[in-house]
Amino acid sequence: MANIVKIVDGYSFIPRSEHTLLEALEHQNLEMEYQCRQGFCGCCQINLVEGAVEYLEEPIAFVPEGKILPCCCRPAADITVELPMPLAMLQKQKNSA
Ligand code: FES
Repeated sequence: MANIVKIVDGYSFIPRSEHTLLEALEHQNLEMEYQCRQGFCGCCQINLVEGAVEYLEEPIAFVPEGKILPCCCRPAADITVELPMPLAMLQKQKNSA
């Protein structure tokens, strides 16, 4: 059964099973911060409010309690996350041309 990703702002979606959480958030047209996309730098870190994730490989970067690295994990249950900025600020502008 697919897991639901809820964002604290009230938005939720069902990610594709083959996507990392970062890819899934980007697929929702959200402009997320990242650098290595492999669990080395810690740049993509977000808050995990509820639920659990599974890491594809154990990250090298330090992951503080309550944080996750979306570039290298997938939801292991329904999860609620808090993004570093309000949702409206992370939504990519669509070309109006
Ligand atoms: S982008 Fe580097 S740890 Fe996620």
